[in-house]
Formats: sequence, structure tokens, C-alpha cells
Amino acid sequence: MFESIESIIEKMTLEEKAALCTGASPWTTTPVERLGIPEMTVSDGPHGVRRVADVNDFVAGSLPATCFPTASCTASTWDVELIYTMGQVLAEECNALKVDVVLGPGVNMKRTPLGGRNFEYFSEDPYLTGQMAASFINGVQSKGIGTSLKHYATNNQESQRMTINAKIDERTLREIYLPAFETAVKKAKPWTVMCAYNKLNGKYGSENSKLLMDILKNEWGFEGFVVSDWGAVHDRVEAMKAGLDLEMPGPRDRRVKAVIEAVRSGVLNESVLNESVRRILGIVFRAAKTEKGCTFNAVAHHALARQIAADGMVLLKNNGILPLKEQKHIAVIGLAAKEAYFQGGGSSHINPIQVDEPFLELKKVAPHTTEFSYSEGYSADASFDQQLIDSAVKEATTADVALLYLSLPASKESEGYDRPDLDLTQQQVALIKAITAVQPNTVVILNNGDPVVMSEWIDGVAAVLEAWMMGQAGGGAIADILYGKINPSGKLAETFPLKLADTPAYINFPGENGEVRYGEGIFIGYRYYDTKKISVQFPFGYGLSYTEFKYSNPKVSAALFKDIDGLTISVDVTNTGKVAGKEIVQVYVHDRKSKLVRPPKELKGFVKVALQPAETKTVSIPLDFRAFAYFHPGYNQWITEDGEFDILIGSSSADIRCVQTITMQSTLKLPCLLNKESTLRDWLEDPTGKRVFEPLFQQVTKQMGVTFGLGEEEGGTGMETMNFLMELAVRDIFYFQETSLSMSPEDLVDDLLAQVKQQS
Ligand code: BGC
Repeated sequence: MFESIESIIEKMTLEEKAALCTGASPWTTTPVERLGIPEMTVSDGPHGVRRVADVNDFVAGSLPATCFPTASCTASTWDVELIYTMGQVLAEECNALKVDVVLGPGVNMKRTPLGGRNFEYFSEDPYLTGQMAASFINGVQSKGIGTSLKHYATNNQESQRMTINAKIDERTLREIYLPAFETAVKKAKPWTVMCAYNKLNGKYGSENSKLLMDILKNEWGFEGFVVSDWGAVHDRVEAMKAGLDLEMPGPRDRRVKAVIEAVRSGVLNESVLNESVRRILGIVFRAAKTEKGCTFNAVAHHALARQIAADGMVLLKNNGILPLKEQKHIAVIGLAAKEAYFQGGGSSHINPIQVDEPFLELKKVAPHTTEFSYSEGYSADASFDQQLIDSAVKEATTADVALLYLSLPASKESEGYDRPDLDLTQQQVALIKAITAVQPNTVVILNNGDPVVMSEWIDGVAAVLEAWMMGQAGGGAIADILYGKINPSGKLAETFPLKLADTPAYINFPGENGEVRYGEGIFIGYRYYDTKKISVQFPFGYGLSYTEFKYSNPKVSAALFKDIDGLTISVDVTNTGKVAGKEIVQVYVHDRKSKLVRPPKELKGFVKVALQPAETKTVSIPLDFRAFAYFHPGYNQWITEDGEFDILIGSSSADIRCVQTITMQSTLKLPCLLNKESTLRDWLEDPTGKRVFEPLFQQVTKQMGVTFGLGEEEGGTGMETMNFLMELAVRDIFYFQETSLSMSPEDLVDDLLAQVKQQS
């Protein structure tokens, strides 16, 4: 039995407390032997365990572990149960490698497809990201291993990654950049949260008390500890005051001393230090409860990695060539067929237990009579080489099918820098064009962490499979899909644009002079393309199957409901094709009328359902208060408004199969927002404001019409006067009538506001 944390804190010296709040090594916390406080080991992830061989060596090589597909791929499964299982399996490997906490998942939004680290992040949609992250965390933590939800918050680019100041308005922050963290914290209680390197509105992630204290700890009730990203702390004492509990990496004697001195000099209240100590000890002791050193079944984990890869791959185009049948001669082209591209560069780099070669796996799955040829097609260094193209064309000409395995060069995407463009290499584009000129049955298989543009070549190819950074077993997963052993069921967790210039952050990325302005606001991903009616290559939520699904019998649990009661949507889904398959049913909400502008649709629920041919299942998707609410910066809270909503049930964001319209009643009693600068429109739209203002209305409008030559008497229309007045602050309208007023415009507005206060 462990002693109570409070009594341990009482026995700790100031020096011991300060030391506990900084790592002992790059990967371990500081133990206090005399009090039985063990050390705790953390390790990178999140698509595998990067357990460094020597915790004292920051850049030491890591021990072998299963490398699962990265988050772009796992998110595209839309399968919360599968990612839960992945979490459990990852925890087993942590246990075997003596790791207490895995540093993941990463839930930053994909603001732009140029993000160098996008392969480690789930989606452009906060709802999908939150659900996947919560499930992953629950899976890992169900086995007594902790997680670190990262990077909190607004770490959406690698350019100037440690210093950039992200300028983001409150609504955008709340609706886009925080909800995935919020869902994960509330639904899954991660043991730790890792702060971001960058600044948000002028404050570093490590010193941002609004993020760490006000929102994370107080509003969301986070009970674990906040750890710094590695090297994210600048002022140790300020960071601790702001809610940053553990600084990593260690050792950092100067930081420990700074905390001690700050307490001694009264700059830092010891109770603040005690709170960090309490949080760290809570997790350290929890971690110690899980006995480490189990063994794991690497073969079973490899098989799971293959299944996840196959379920996350997205079939983007298919003219019927796939699944492959009995084609005799197959030309396999492209380096990625021999050298699997399965993970990205940086801190998440796993030392894989084994890596399947895509070409070998293809041969294993293909009918044994198939003949294969191989040509490299392009070289690893991304240089242009016509000879490689020519020899690939020769093979493709006489084949029945050409399979083009293409991977982005590592120099084009990694942690640490953003992507320069969304293009394949010049050589790869030339290769596709040359092959498709001689071979109509060309299938492109892509390995990349995030979208590439395709408009230059997609029309010429028969099929495209997005295979992502597919993990160590991905080579076999590609073969399973190409030959129909697995029916593809992945759908895009992010939009594939037609060109870079179409993307939401295009004119505001990566910022300049140390600042990046999130000018597109809440309109990222499909929210932007939908609003601007911009055509895309492939929409959010899209993916093909070898079968088809019919939607019927949509129902809502109530046509009229209260926001707090929520709603349940159900629909029948039938597999109308000849093979078993899985469909991802998506529910989007469209607010027909709102005070503040909202995106045309937002994902608020989804379910993945497996169906045999001719089978029908009814799926149900609950929608809660937040499915209808938006964050109103004026009230500084999530609000709902009475009104009609369309519930869009679809197979993708662009393929809506059924629409149900419902009426919602808000139960919120919102304070009146009228103030000295409120416009006439604001007054008339507020029920109490309207009542109070009404007696003055006639007089004010008439006089203003005359003053500005807009009134009916001056040949204008009443409508012109109203349009003119609606955008003026009531106070300013009074200015023009000052001579006829018995009091000053300011006093008159104050008087009206007092009446509103009294009556509301
Ligand atoms: C990354 C984190 C990672 C940490 C430890 C940082 O540079 O941003 O994601 O967990 O290093 O390797």
C-alpha cells in the first residue's frame, strides 16, 4: 500500500519537491528513494513505442516495437473500437518495454495540408479527432499505462515551431482548436497533457494560464499533470504559476534551483508547487501499480497492424479494375513496392520489429500463376531520371495491369518542417503520365502522410488507393485490398483539394514576422470548401468500397426537442452489393438560422457498420447539446438558439443520403448583451431591447430619414432609412438628434440600458 500523497508531500523537503517537477533524465521523472517515490518512464509514440535504449541519452536508438499506421491512417478507419484495441496493444508493448506513459495521441487540427506533422494528427475535424483520441486513450489506459495528450494547444505548423505566435480569435479556438482536447480530457481522462511549444495570442503554451489553468484544469476538470513539450519551458517559475507541472527533458539543475529560490524569496507560493507535486505524485504512484515486464505476441501485433492499415486505406478511384482478378502479367513499378514507406520522421519514429515488403506481400496474396515484373520508376533522392521512366514504360506496355507504388520522399514531410507543396515529385508525375500513355489499367498506390494533388494525372489512371504512412505491416494490407481479400472501408478524415491555392489557410500560412494569423477562423477543412463552394478532388468523409450501400428509413427520436435532452438519429443501411463490406455513416448538422455565421454543415456523429451482402442494419447515432451549440464570444459560452436544424445523414460530407428537419428549443437563459455600442439591429433583435426601444422608434427613424434625405418625405423609402439606421449604434443615432433630446445621447442610452436590465 502506498502512503497517502498528502502525508508524503508533508515529508518532502523543498528541494525534493522542486526536483520532482523536472525530469531526472530525458525520459524519466525524479525518484525520491527515502520516501518511496519511484521514477516514471515516458516514451514517444503514438503509433508505436519509441523506448530509447538508454534513458540518459537523448538521441539513443530505440528498442524494437510494432510500428502501427500513423494517425492519418488510423483516423481514416473511423473505427473507435479498432483504435481502442490498438491502444490496448500499444499498452502491452509499453509494459513489456517498461514504459509507464506513452507520449500521445497528437490531436492538433490539420489547419492546412502543408503541416509537416500532419501524418501524426488525425483530422481537419474536431469531432472525429476527439472521438478517435478518446478511444485510443481509453484503450491504452485500460491496461494501466498512461498517455500524454499533445500538443496543447494550437500547434498547427512546424515553421518556427517553437516560437510562432498563433493569433486566433476565441470562437475559433473553442470551436476548432480545443474541442478534440476537451473531448479526450472529459471522455478519457488522460494521465498527462503535453503543452505546445508555440505561443497562442502572445503566450507560450508552457506559460499560458488561460489554457492550462482556466480551461484545462478548472473548466474541464483535468486531474493529471501537465508536462512540457521537450524544451518548451522558458521561464520555469512563470510556467509553474501558469499550471505547467513537470518540465521535460531533464536533468535541469538550474530550473530546480529557480523554483527553490522563487519559493524562498516569496515569488512563488509554495502551495502552487505543492499542487504540481500532488498531481505528479498521483500519476507516478498510479503508474507504479502496473507491474511491468510482460511479454507480448509480436506476430499478433503485426497482424493487428496489418488490419488497421487495411481498414484505414482509402480507395479514391476505381473504374472497376479493382479488385484484381486473374490478370496474368502484372508490372509492379515504383521504389515504394520494395522499400515500404510506412512512418514519418521525427520523435515518433519507431524501430519496427519487422517490415513487410509490399512487393513480396503482393506475390503471396496473388494467384500463384501470376507473373510479375519490377522496375524502380524513381529513385529515393527525388532526382529526375528519364531512364528509370523508360524501363518502367517497357514493362508496363506488355503487362495486363501496372501497379504504381509511389511514396513521397522523406524530405517532403516530417516533424520539424512544413511541406513546400502538395505535389508528388516531378519524376513521379512524369512516370504516371508515361505509364498511363501505354497502359490503361494503371493503379496508383500512394504512401504519404497527408494529401497530394492529383489533377494533373488522375484522369488517366484506372484506380487510386491512398495507403498513407501505413505502418510496418502495410505492405500486406495493400495486397489484401488490391486482391479483394479485404474490402476497403476507410474514408478520408481530411479533404483532398484540387490545388494548394484552394486551401483555407493559403494566404495566412505559415505567417511572417513571428506571427501567424488564423484568418480563416472556424472555416477549416470542409467547413471552408462548403462555405466557399470550392470544388475539391475528394471530399471529407469520402471513400469507395467494392460493394454499395443503400440508406433508408431515416428517423429522429423527436421532431421537437429541448437542447439538453438531445436527439437520436437512426437509419437503415443495406449492403446492396455482392461482397461483405463496412460503411461509415456520418451525421452532419446544419443550423438553418443563427445569430452568428456557422458552417453549412458540421460532423456531429458517425458509426462504422459491417454488413454481409443483402444484410440490413439499423444504426443509431445520438446527438447531444453540443451537436447544436456554437461558441458565442459575446456570452463567452456555448449557446443554443431556438430554431430549425437539418440533420444530414451521409456517406460522405458531399454525399448526403437523407435529410431530417427538426425544431430545437433552447433552455438557456442568456444575459442581455446590449451595451453602449449596440446597433439598432442589435436592439431590435433583442426581445427586451425591442420592447424598450419601441416608444422612441417612430420619432428616431422619421427624423433620421429627413436628416439624411432618406425619408419618404424626401423621395426615399422607409426601407432605405431602416437599412441606413440598422448598422448605426443607437448612441450615434442620438448624436444626430441631440438638439431635440432632453438629455445627452450617452445618458439616454444609459437610461435605455437600465430599463433593459430591469425588465430582463
Ligand atoms: C515533440 C513531442 C515529443 C517530444 C519528445 C518534441 O519535440 O514535439 O511530440 O513527444 O519531442 O520526443
